[in-house]
Amino acid sequence: KPLPATSAAAQKEGFRYFMEKETYEQSAVVSDILTGRIGKGGIRLDELPADWLKRFSSITLCACGTSYHAALTGAYLLERLAKVPTRVEIASEFRYREPILDPTGLFAVISQSGETADTLEALKLASAQGLETLALCNVDNSSIVRAASHTVLLRAGIEKGVASTKAFTAQVMALWLLAIYWGQARSELSEETLARELDALRRVRVAVKVQPRVHDRLHRLSKRYLHGHGFFFIGRDIFYPLALEGALKLKEISYLHAEGYPAGEMKHGPIALADAELFTVALMPRSCLHEKIKSNVEELSARDATIVAITTEYFELADDIIQIRAYDHPMLEFFEMMVVLQLLALEIAVRLGNDVDMPRNLAKSVTVE
Ligand code: G6P
Repeated sequence: KPLPATSAAAQKEGFRYFMEKETYEQSAVVSDILTGRIGKGGIRLDELPADWLKRFSSITLCACGTSYHAALTGAYLLERLAKVPTRVEIASEFRYREPILDPTGLFAVISQSGETADTLEALKLASAQGLETLALCNVDNSSIVRAASHTVLLRAGIEKGVASTKAFTAQVMALWLLAIYWGQARSELSEETLARELDALRRVRVAVKVQPRVHDRLHRLSKRYLHGHGFFFIGRDIFYPLALEGALKLKEISYLHAEGYPAGEMKHGPIALADAELFTVALMPRSCLHEKIKSNVEELSARDATIVAITTEYFELADDIIQIRAYDHPMLEFFEMMVVLQLLALEIAVRLGNDVDMPRNLAKSVTVE
């Protein structure tokens, strides 16, 4: 007999956890985000008048948790595409360090819930100093949306899993759209670059779609990675914030020790930890600093670290390979790897018997300091 529509099981629509359902929803979320936003002349972001945006000479992005990792990713995109100097701040630090703000800059906060106390207070602080503010937020009429002078809603839909998945996708998408839109407004984008970005945007829907082959592989692989000294997640460029996010996902729901690191920084300390019981998840995209990350992984492998490579091709030093499709744009590799990291964390946590949707000690929205 069908379950009542209100029961949690019915709401999960056959998935074991909300987090799993939300991971699978990402393709639909991306379609929603792009609806009405790719026009003849490029990106349309009707929420933000181009003349208003053009007034600012810099941007500060401020957030917590997963939203902070989206901000770090956004900084690469904004500087590369819009050529706008970008600063990224952890909200809880920002509030108390007497920050000096650029009076000609835009202050933007990123938040799924719109209720995170540290982020809200950071926003108020910037407003009080006379800065214009922007909220990239998933919840309309939330405290953060009400306090900001402008808002771009994320269109991720309701997210229930405490470990954020589809909201992260929506945040990175919003920042990418903003970077292109701002680049257009400032005439910083060549026709060729714009065409390349639009083409990649249109293909994200496919990149974030969960492939049963990959999910099945992660399920089988996860049993090898339940015990050990811990995990390093390493990447470069935009794959560095993605490595941070992969480590955070694993920490949040598996309670295993995991750190994200910029791959080139390992030699300055962390490599001292390398041994066979240290699992290193290496993000090795084809389209971005491939040879550099390869040589970083070689150094770890020489110290006997166990390497799990997320990559497009065979890599002889990897103990395990999770193969992703090859793309000609780093953002597509980014999104496909992101899904791998979300499902890797999920499968490990499930094997450890944890409640994926209600991880211990964590709350979906932290409304206190
Ligand atoms: C909590 C959640 C995280 C989230 C962070 C920021 O710690 O458990 O998943 O990333 O808050 O939340 P926000 O709603 O501001 O994005």
